[in-house]
Amino acid sequence: MTRLLIRACRREPVERTPIWLMRQAGRYMSVYRAVRERHGFLQMVKQPDVAAEVTLQPIEAFGMDAAIIFADILPPLEGLGLQLTFEKGEGPVIHNPIRVPADIAALRPYEPEAVSGYTLEALRIVRAALPETTALFGFSGAPFTLASYAIEGGGSREYRRTKIMMYRDPASWQTLMTKLTDLVVAYLIAQVQAGADVVQIFDSWAGALSPGDFAEYVLPYVQRAVAETRAATGVPIVYFGTDMNGMLPLLRATGADVLGLDWRIRLADGWAQYGYDVAVQGNLDPTTLHAPWPEIERRAKAILDQAAGRPGHIFNVGHGIITETPEEHVARLVEFVQNYRYAGEA
Ligand code: CP3
Repeated sequence: MTRLLIRACRREPVERTPIWLMRQAGRYMSVYRAVRERHGFLQMVKQPDVAAEVTLQPIEAFGMDAAIIFADILPPLEGLGLQLTFEKGEGPVIHNPIRVPADIAALRPYEPEAVSGYTLEALRIVRAALPETTALFGFSGAPFTLASYAIEGGGSREYRRTKIMMYRDPASWQTLMTKLTDLVVAYLIAQVQAGADVVQIFDSWAGALSPGDFAEYVLPYVQRAVAETRAATGVPIVYFGTDMNGMLPLLRATGADVLGLDWRIRLADGWAQYGYDVAVQGNLDPTTLHAPWPEIERRAKAILDQAAGRPGHIFNVGHGIITETPEEHVARLVEFVQNYRYAGEA
């Protein structure tokens, strides 16, 4: 048996469009908030039974076609020697950011079991508890997005320090990106060994770069991460970024099996630029989920009709679900997509 979502990743024929939602486990769910009241966010990530419980919450409530392991892109950086906390209202903070070449030289090699053992254990628990037909996502931050947090020390608007290192000191950039790519590959392989049957690489902030700079300073590392992960595991690989519609051919060049599309482009237009020869994931604006249900349904239907029943479409939001989303709307969206059958001409 090959799971529906995995068949869609491979562009094999499917009886319906699979759906999962980025950030599907999170604060919009009351059962999540109940657990969160008792634990800090990192504490939840680091306790495998709690991480597993929260991973399963949206599957039990809404029945998406895939679970995504409850974790974060940043904790693996602790294994390199970076000190991470999540501050209330501030998001992630890295207390010893990378600023000079000596900081890069001092980074320790990443060892998946020693550093991320809690996430690997959570994957094992989740796989054993999930319905047989539900896929399980492992994930990693992409080298650029990890580098941007490591250098800026937290979230950023313009990624100035990151770009300045890239432009001013390409040798340091190369050393850092090489180390982060090694981390991505080791982490993804370990997650597949622990039970993930699909993996997603989050390059959430690569859209801050010009296409030329993405091609020169970032793409080669993503290509290596994709190629080495695929060679070692054979599972489908999703590459996700936002604000990258001006560089879709470069995304194609990553070699990923599935490419995320955000809502800033019509799904059909983005997919056509790929010649339909790669699977796509998307692309509802997550803020749409606050609209009255008929509006959400209209937009979801428009996306499904643009996909026109072609194999290789995975329904998703174009970026993570936002905090105040009504749970009822998520329930209805999953039901609507899972019951939708394209009726028109392909
Ligand atoms: O999609 C999922 O449900 C899986 C879990 C997941 C989380 N973070 C849980 C989380 C995933 C895949 C991530 C990825 C992640 N983390 C990204 C890339 C994806 C994206 O959104 O672009 C980034 C940039 C991060 C870093 C991060 N983690 C930030 C900036 C924040 C603070 C912002 C916020 O929403 O609070 C987090 C915290 C975080 N990661 C939460 C969750 C559920 C909120 C924690 C809480 O307070 O309950």
